[in-house]
Amino acid sequence: MRVVSGIQPTGNLHLGNYLGAVKQWVRMQDEVAAQGGETMYFIADLHGLTQWIDPRELTANTIEMTATMIAAGIDPERSILWNQARVPAHSELTWLLNNVARVGWLNRMTQFKDKAGKDREGASVGLYDYPVLMAADVLLYKTTHVPVGEDQKQHLELARDIATKFNTDYGVELFPLPEPMVSKEAPRIMSLRDATSKMSKSNPSEMSRVHLVDSDDDIAAKFRKAKTDPDPLPDSFDALAERPEARNLVTIYAALADRTPQSVVEEYAGQGFGQFKPALADLAVSVLSPIRDRLTRLLDDRAAVSAVLAKGAEKAAALAAPTLRAAQDAMGLEL
Ligand code: ADP
Ligand code: TRP
Repeated sequence: MRVVSGIQPTGNLHLGNYLGAVKQWVRMQDEVAAQGGETMYFIADLHGLTQWIDPRELTANTIEMTATMIAAGIDPERSILWNQARVPAHSELTWLLNNVARVGWLNRMTQFKDKAGKDREGASVGLYDYPVLMAADVLLYKTTHVPVGEDQKQHLELARDIATKFNTDYGVELFPLPEPMVSKEAPRIMSLRDATSKMSKSNPSEMSRVHLVDSDDDIAAKFRKAKTDPDPLPDSFDALAERPEARNLVTIYAALADRTPQSVVEEYAGQGFGQFKPALADLAVSVLSPIRDRLTRLLDDRAAVSAVLAKGAEKAAALAAPTLRAAQDAMGLEL
């Protein structure tokens, strides 16, 4: 079992990113190791280039994302942690796979349509090719399992199609088909201002999300002001189906406490948000403040964080080399 996943180096992670992605990676680090498998996590800085970003901002984001992952519990001694750009095999395999992927396949990718918006002619070729780079990220390590969010499942399907076509066209059994793992435990966290839209960095309201670097006071204030309804909590989580704000806050509580939403509503049944919100704020502070403090310390020495990535990249490159070589051989490149 080899688990590989990547995350783009966006600045300033929020609670949705943490509970929905990073925390799952931390959990898998132990679960996969217990089964004798391996976890590999990378910062997708090459994917970060597909939409314009100031170069200094990209550098800073890459370091900050790495520090955030370490602060949140990714242990570079137990998981391989690196940045994509430091392992040129990602780019090299992408070019090979570009000749296997079909234009018709890429034309169906919904994320490209969303991100390119109306100005499709003005989108970068990189944005269009993004899913092929992602396929290379995964196939390069003969990955068996890929933890991803719902929105990335289509890209994983594409990676499977590319792997199948490569194996068939070249008569090899080089690439195993990677399985997407859309974790049942990964909650989808909604905006604190409007629980019908997800918590996202693109929401203009700072009050809609909690950042991992927020002060204790900010965390408490954001939960205190979170939108809710006047009713008390019921004794069953299912009864919150029509109360999205209440449901979201209970979901956040449960995820932070590593408990089921049902056990949380049972504890608070009959109480209103006047009681629940301060408890949630305290819990959030107790979970997030140690992460924030570790993150702040790590960012005092950015060179040390970069050195962690360089070391991880060496390990990743060693694992990538034979697969890239086998792909080149299969395609008849003279090396
Ligand atoms: P954003 O929507 O803020 O731009 P990204 O698309 O950069 O977030 O997501 C980075 C990772 O965090 C992905 O794995 C994604 O599935 C996860 N993620 C983002 N927002 C949420 C959320 N509100 N709830 C759960 N997971 C989320
Ligand atoms: N596209 C993914 C995202 O935006 C990040 C990513 C890049 C990735 N390469 C990957 C995830 C390979 C899993 C495997 O979330």
